Amino acid sequence: MAVQLQRPLVAAACLLLCGVMSGVLGAPDPSYREALMQLESSMQTGGRLVLSPAERRLDQRLQQLKEAEMKKPDFPPALHFFKARSLIRSSPMYSLLQKMPKGGALHIHDFSMVDAEWLAMNVTYRPNCYMCVTGEQSMRFLFSSSSPKPLPLCSPWMQLEHLRAKMVNTTDLDNSIKASLTIFTDQDPEALYPSQDVVWKRFEQAFMSLWGLVTYAPVFRDYYYQGLSQFYKDNVMYLELRALLPQIYELDGSTHDRAWTLKTYQEITRQFVAEHPDFFGARIIFTVHRGVNTTLLTAAIEEAMRLQKDFPEIMAGFDLVGREDAGRSLWYFRDVLSLPAKRGVSLPFFFHAGETDLEGTEVDQNLLDALLFNTSRIGHGFALLRHPVAKNLSRKRGVAVEVCPISNQVLKLVADVRNHPAAVLMSEGHPLVISSDDPAMFGSSGLSDDFYEAFVGLGGKSSHIGTLKQLAVNSIRYSSLSPEQQEKALSLWQRRWDKFVSENSF
Ligand SMILES: *[C@@H]1O[C@H](CO)[C@@H](O)[C@H](O)[C@H]1NC(C)=O
Ligand SMILES: *[C@@H]1O[C@H](CO)[C@@H](O)[C@H](O)[C@H]1NC(C)=O
Ligand SMILES: *[C@@H]1O[C@H](CO)[C@@H](O)[C@H](O)[C@H]1NC(C)=O
Ligand SMILES: *[C@@H]1O[C@H](CO)[C@@H](O)[C@H](O)[C@H]1NC(C)=O
Ligand SMILES: *[C@@H]1O[C@H](CO)[C@@H](O)[C@H](O)[C@H]1NC(C)=O
Ligand SMILES: [Zn+2]
Repeated sequence: MAVQLQRPLVAAACLLLCGVMSGVLGAPDPSYREALMQLESSMQTGGRLVLSPAERRLDQRLQQLKEAEMKKPDFPPALHFFKARSLIRSSPMYSLLQKMPKGGALHIHDFSMVDAEWLAMNVTYRPNCYMCVTGEQSMRFLFSSSSPKPLPLCSPWMQLEHLRAKMVNTTDLDNSIKASLTIFTDQDPEALYPSQDVVWKRFEQAFMSLWGLVTYAPVFRDYYYQGLSQFYKDNVMYLELRALLPQIYELDGSTHDRAWTLKTYQEITRQFVAEHPDFFGARIIFTVHRGVNTTLLTAAIEEAMRLQKDFPEIMAGFDLVGREDAGRSLWYFRDVLSLPAKRGVSLPFFFHAGETDLEGTEVDQNLLDALLFNTSRIGHGFALLRHPVAKNLSRKRGVAVEVCPISNQVLKLVADVRNHPAAVLMSEGHPLVISSDDPAMFGSSGLSDDFYEAFVGLGGKSSHIGTLKQLAVNSIRYSSLSPEQQEKALSLWQRRWDKFVSENSF
């Protein structure tokens, strides 16, 4: 599996010579065939990396583990992740991927970092936590020093401390709170979420459910710290977080502005790095929901430009979030999105684009438009194969695609991960990184579940240790870090990688 650097040259020479010979002989020439196969494998992600003997030994082990996965009667990447999770988690392949230093997580949303278990069992057990239930059986929460005003379309507020005190057994209540805060379920996911509309609706409800918990100032701080810890434990060393920077509230109902929220991210990141010197840091991509109108977006872009200037260390740029099919297109917002360029102000974009299977609609043009607005990366790019010109531009400009296999499967763009379009991008060595989008919503954790799907499902038999190494390197090379910071991060990563390889190759 280990591919040498000089092989593409041998292959190119053989393409000229052997091809002619095979024409003469009439039957396919085995060395011509071999050269073509080598050419193809050199094109894939990591296909041209020169591997050390220890890396090759580790690769042999990886190939054995992968074959064991492929022999399972239920091949995990072919199953819905909710059904596959226990199979994946119990595999030796997963343990190895978890230990692997994976570099950075470049596509993660602010309020889906920490699992629902922690929110339910830690956060809702704090004092002054109120809960109500909507007609659709979704919960809403609020911390308040006094009894809060009733919420429209919700039951009267109940103080959880009092409610629990009256109960003999709180397990059922705790379980229903957990269920309200994530879309992960032990039930049959295909029956529960039969369509994109249904699953997106539940997804948005779950965010509304956790909103009042995570925007409470003391929880907001702990949540982010806990989120960094979860990624750190999964051997991720850097994060680019898409964050809504909402108003954060205190117990008396007073609120903080966006600058406060961004500054808090910065302080906690610094604290976390000080306590974990092998963690490199985090940067924030300010996001706004794509359902807003032009007035609101203009105000947001103005604010983004100010924040970019005032907090250059933590602020990485700007993006629009929410379901693409239901929101407005980038082209609709073209005048607003041109403001920074018109003013000569730098505001890097990191657009979600092509998270759709609605080919040919206005939303489907988001991919090309993202590139025309000089996006630094493409979030998802699920539709990229249907846009050869956009695909070329992305490759030529080194605009990496942030591939989130579990997210795309759970939100019903693809059922079997082997059929995910990124399998093609990987086979061509297209610039890409692997990320987990909303791990807590999908019941995944850190990056390891998505790395499993990418390595075993997208890569199939062809992926190897070079693929994993390249994906980790990509996550630093395609990050928003400056070239000097990238070198620092890479050398930190390289030390951890060498240790991982030497400890696991035998
Ligand atoms: C919640 O977690 C924090 C740390 O983030 C800890 O200090 C606190 O004791 C926990 N509270 C409960 C109720 O588990
Ligand atoms: C509480 O209820 C759950 C589910 O109904 C049950 O499994 C558990 O054993 C109960 N715990 C106690 C201490 O009774
Ligand atoms: C834009 O949306 C905001 C909030 O929903 C609303 O207050 C405002 O009137 C809207 N502006 C326009 C021009 O529609
Ligand atoms: C994109 O980059 C090109 C080339 O640097 C520049 O001319 C153009 O103004 C940029 N467009 C936007 C919308 O930022
Ligand atoms: C993409 O780029 C390749 C090589 O640069 C070129 O041969 C091909 O025609 C391009 N395709 C499109 C659709 O632009
Ligand atoms: Zn996303």
